[in-house]
Amino acid sequence: MQNQLMKILQEAKEQLQNASTIIETEEIRVKLLGKKGQLTEILRSMGSLNPEERKEFGKAANSVRAEIEALLEEKFASMKELQKADQFIKEKIDVTEPGVKSELGVKHPITITIEEISRIFMRMGFSIAEGPEVETVFNNFDALNSPQNHPSRDMSDTFYITENILLRTQTSPVQARTLMKEEPPIKIISPGRCFRVDTPDATHSPMFHQVEGLLVDEGITMADLKGTLNSFAKQLFGSKVKTKFRPHYFPFTEPSGEMDVSCFKCGGVGCRFCKGSGWIEILGCGMVHPNVLKVGHIDTEKYTGFAFGMGVERIALLKYEIEDIRLLYENDMRFIQQFK
Ligand code: DAH
Repeated sequence: MQNQLMKILQEAKEQLQNASTIIETEEIRVKLLGKKGQLTEILRSMGSLNPEERKEFGKAANSVRAEIEALLEEKFASMKELQKADQFIKEKIDVTEPGVKSELGVKHPITITIEEISRIFMRMGFSIAEGPEVETVFNNFDALNSPQNHPSRDMSDTFYITENILLRTQTSPVQARTLMKEEPPIKIISPGRCFRVDTPDATHSPMFHQVEGLLVDEGITMADLKGTLNSFAKQLFGSKVKTKFRPHYFPFTEPSGEMDVSCFKCGGVGCRFCKGSGWIEILGCGMVHPNVLKVGHIDTEKYTGFAFGMGVERIALLKYEIEDIRLLYENDMRFIQQFK
C-alpha cells in the first residue's frame, strides 16, 4: 500500500505539471481528493489493517495528502496569475486611439420657427399656454362661437374621435381654456400641433402647427392689435417690412381680419414667393367676440381683447425657401442637418 501511495504522489506531480488551465487542475483535485478520489479510497480501505500498520500507513498517507494539497494550492495560484495576465492582454485599452465621435443634434426648422416667434412675444410680455391635441368639440368649436353648420365642423374636414372629442383643428381652443381658467389681464401665446383632413401635397399636410395669441384687458382696442402684430412682423421678418390688414371672417372675432406683410424676399416689387403681388399673408386676427369672453364669464362691458393665429409651416417654408411641406416630416437627416 505504501507503494500505491508513492505511485499516486508521483502521478499527481506529473499530471499537475502538464495541467495548463484551472479547470484541468480542478479535475485533478477531484480525481485525487474528491469523495471518490484515489487518495480518499485508499484512506477508506485502511480499516482492514491492524492497528500497528494502520498507524504507520496513516502517517504516510497524511503526509502524501498534505504534499498533494500544497502542490494543488501552488498550481491554482500560478494558474490564476496566468489567467490575470491573459485577461490583461485581452482587455488592454489603447488610450491613444481616437474616440468615437458623437454627432451633435440640430433643431428642426419647425422648432426653430416656433422658438423665434415665441421669443418675440415673450419679450412683449406674453407667456406660453398649452393645450391638448385631443380636444373636446366644445372647446374647438362651440366655445369659439362657431355655428352648428360651420363647414369646418363637417365630418369630412375634421378627425373626430367620438361625437364629442376630436383632434383639434386649430390652436384657438387654448383661448377657451385660458378664458375659463384665468382672470384678465390675460396675455398668452400658444404654439402647438393641429389636424385637418387634407391630402398631402407640396403645400398641405393633415398635421401642421399654429401659434395662437390672446390678450384680454381693460381698454384694449384694434390699435393695440395692429401695433402688437406690426411690431411682431418687423422683428420676425426685418425692420423694413410693412403690414396691412384686410377684413375677413372668423367666428370667434369681430371684427376679424388677415394680416399681410410686404414680401420680405423681394421687398414688395413682386417675385415667385409672393406670387408677384408683393404681399404675403401671415395670420388671422381680430377683436375677441363677446360670446367667447362670456364662456370665461368675463365682464364684456369692462374687458375687451384681441386674438390672432398663424401657421408655422407657412412661415418656415417662406423663410427657409423650402419647396415642399412634406420635407418637414420625412426626417431625412440630409434635410434637417442644413439647419445647423
Ligand atoms: N384659428 C384660425 C384658423 O385656424 C386662425 C385664427 C384667426 C386665430 C383669427 C385667431 C384669430 O385667434 O383671431 O384659421
